[in-house]
Amino acid sequence: MGGCKFLSDMAESARDETQGGHCFKKEKIKYTPEEEAKLERQHFWRIIDAFKYYRVHVQEQVKRAERQFRSLSQSHQNLLPGVLYNLARITQCADHNQEILHAIVHNSLHMFENVEYGEWEKDPRKVRPSTTFDMDKLKSTIKQFVRDWSEAGQAERDTCYKPIIQEIKRLFPSDKYDVSKVSVLVPGAGLGRLAWEIAQQGYTCQGNEWSFFMLFSSNFVLNRCEQVNALTLYPWIHQFSNNKKSSDQTRPIRFPDINPQSLPYDADFSMVAGDFVEVYTEPESWNCVATCFFIDTAHNVLEYMDTIWQILKPGGVWINLGPLLYHFENMANELSVELSYEDIRTAMVKLGFIIEVENESMQTTYTENDRSMLRYVYDCIFFVARKPAELHFNGQDDSQHHIAPPAAKSPRREGTDRLT
Ligand SMILES: C[S@@+](CC[C@H](N)C(=O)[O-])C[C@H]1O[C@@H](n2cnc3c(N)ncnc32)[C@H](O)[C@@H]1O
Repeated sequence: MGGCKFLSDMAESARDETQGGHCFKKEKIKYTPEEEAKLERQHFWRIIDAFKYYRVHVQEQVKRAERQFRSLSQSHQNLLPGVLYNLARITQCADHNQEILHAIVHNSLHMFENVEYGEWEKDPRKVRPSTTFDMDKLKSTIKQFVRDWSEAGQAERDTCYKPIIQEIKRLFPSDKYDVSKVSVLVPGAGLGRLAWEIAQQGYTCQGNEWSFFMLFSSNFVLNRCEQVNALTLYPWIHQFSNNKKSSDQTRPIRFPDINPQSLPYDADFSMVAGDFVEVYTEPESWNCVATCFFIDTAHNVLEYMDTIWQILKPGGVWINLGPLLYHFENMANELSVELSYEDIRTAMVKLGFIIEVENESMQTTYTENDRSMLRYVYDCIFFVARKPAELHFNGQDDSQHHIAPPAAKSPRREGTDRLT
């Protein structure tokens, strides 16, 4: 039975998780260690506050809906006998979600082995208002439980995580490798399921995540939940549009669909908090970097690419699946370099990566509400790119590339897609 060790390496990390927060990545403001620790502490407690404010926030939405309903003429109200009942049900579901969120907070206060965030200077019992931005993040985090830790998320995991895991197993098969010595890094690990699944296969796996919303929640599920499907969340109550039935809005999911504590006793599985490019500076230290719905979170995706190149061991592989929905697009005062996949691919090859597997059309969803009248499908790119075992060039001049033979037996063709 193995839990998951959480370490924090948040110093110097971006703190633009909350609007109006302290983004000291972009401007590279230099703080003293004391200032940094203080900002970090404030940030930590602000996210805790957001978890506590959830019920009030949903109640406000419900009250608004109730006011709208009561503003209707009596004859119109009479046509809608179920509306107030549904709103009352939403309130009950929000109360229940709040209990789970309280449990998450309760287990977060001392979650890092190497950092303590002290006490909140203000009255800990007081519920302080949070921004809409933070509430949206919290609601997305609740939906992330569906994707990562519920039976309802199985189909989505099969399209997003399975191809990555299959490639890891193909590239580092257990009959040829001592897989416990194969190290896999999962940056932007979310609620940790992909990283957990990789560790479950016996690989040494570390998830890296920067959002406290995600970190608090993954710590809870990975270290505090044992009984399968023992807990309930109502992830869809915040969706007031595109419901076919009112009861769709209040339907529950159960989690975790599997006991997260069921890793082999000797599994090497950990999570590190912090900004991927700040935390991972040790060159040539990973056999595999697996990114899922991650690379478009970058201000500059080439910075992520550089980091991955640096930290991969010679012969190591980068496996990626996801769209290019640039997170900082249209955000005022934020650096955001929005490259096409074509441009990213060119840059990868120039840097020296050898693209061994490539599929430019993998259809996936992300925290999908399968009963909603509005559903998004991402037509994702998927690739496996290798850092050659022997580096013969400096990445500056294409004509000087001498491509080392990939360690994989043969490049694979996926569907009808382009292959290098
Ligand atoms: C779209 S989510 C994908 C989560 C997970 N990989 C999945 O497929 O469900 C992107 C994740 O990357 C995290 N993230 C964004 N920028 C990051 C950074 N610089 N370092 C580490 N994590 C980051 C976000 O907090 C978020 O949890």
